[in-house]
Amino acid sequence: MNGDAFTAHESNVRRYCRAFPTVFTKALGATIWDETGKPFIDFLVGSGALNYGHNNPDIMAPAIEYLVGENILLSLDMHTAAKRDFIEGFVDWILKPRGLSYKIQFPGPTGTNANEAALALARKCTGRSSVMAFTNAFHGMSLGSLAVSGSASTREQGGVARHDVIRVPYDGYPSQAFDSVSYIDCILSDPGSGIEKPAAIILEIIQAEGGMNAASTAWLTEIQRICRTHGIVFIVDDIQAGAGRTGDFFSFESAKIEPDIVCLSKSLSGSGSPLSIVLIRPDLDIWKPGEHSGTFRGNNFAFVTAGAMCKMWSDRKFTAGVERTALRLQTHLDRLVAKFPRYIEQKRGRGLMAGLKCRSPALVGRVHDVAFENGLLIESSGPNRDVIKVLPPITITDAELDRGITILDHALQEQDNA
Ligand SMILES: Cc1ncc(COP(=O)(O)O)c(C=O)c1O
Repeated sequence: MNGDAFTAHESNVRRYCRAFPTVFTKALGATIWDETGKPFIDFLVGSGALNYGHNNPDIMAPAIEYLVGENILLSLDMHTAAKRDFIEGFVDWILKPRGLSYKIQFPGPTGTNANEAALALARKCTGRSSVMAFTNAFHGMSLGSLAVSGSASTREQGGVARHDVIRVPYDGYPSQAFDSVSYIDCILSDPGSGIEKPAAIILEIIQAEGGMNAASTAWLTEIQRICRTHGIVFIVDDIQAGAGRTGDFFSFESAKIEPDIVCLSKSLSGSGSPLSIVLIRPDLDIWKPGEHSGTFRGNNFAFVTAGAMCKMWSDRKFTAGVERTALRLQTHLDRLVAKFPRYIEQKRGRGLMAGLKCRSPALVGRVHDVAFENGLLIESSGPNRDVIKVLPPITITDAELDRGITILDHALQEQDNA
């Protein structure tokens, strides 16, 4: 079958293949090749699922050894040596050095599986049904996650009512002048507000699909305080912003907060293989055995690659390299903002989770097309898709990063002739 197999047989729902119309065959690090041999710098990275690049040798070497050794691949939630190694690595290299203590739940393998589990647990713990969620949030495509997502087109999916959600303004919404955290505090404290106390507040530290909006430390600290004051479970959806994307392992580290529940997925396996976990404050782990389930909770290939990823965080050279790359990216973006004020309104995000808010969605569409033509995969985000989402692998080489930025610069420059 040739390329027409997709048009002839794949559902109309397909999306990224329309934005990047070629057939990809090979990938290494931050470079992905199509079947004509054309290389592209990858600033899309599986929408944040390939933070460590494609086929990272430090991650793939143990996985290849594991695959040829007739080892367990699927294990439901039975004990396996690979799962034990992952748990030990995650605790020793990720949780302990950050002074964190969580129980680890393995839900189904996708991000939305983790969020559904977190929401169900918060409801079980509190006996309350509603959840407070934010403008421009995105939490996934299953019904519970859709309900707490903000985008109208996303929420319309599923065709059933989505109850029990209290929508509140995120930090900076609708403008920096609005003090959303005081508003939230007020409606939760005032018996006349008409707002019932929710089971949980769920949020992203940086809203990715929502337009790369980064919450401030002061705002997050206040949200945590409000949760503690009112006995509300504080859930951080770190599915896209976590696993190293901001330059720290967790996106909330710099804010020095400690959420009650943290959801991780996407880049957690380090390899693109599906894996999710829900980190639960130990006293909230009131699940009964088997009460929450899922067939693909035991992806042992992903346990092996995730273990290798965790180990990388114990290497000071690795973490220093990520910090340096984040700084290099930010410098590049500051330069683009200064060079193209006619096209770019502001820089958004933090670390290696960055965005450029542009003056129109049409412009972003054109920049995307020129960039693709010249060998760069880049995505847009935001409710109006007017934010260029810049998501290079956190392990990208300086040469690849510079090349990607040069292509982006050129695509912006081209708009003078559009
Ligand atoms: C913040 C956030 N939460 C949840 C999800 C859903 O993850 P998945 O597509 O694996 O279900 C996404 C996906 O983009 C996301 O960005």
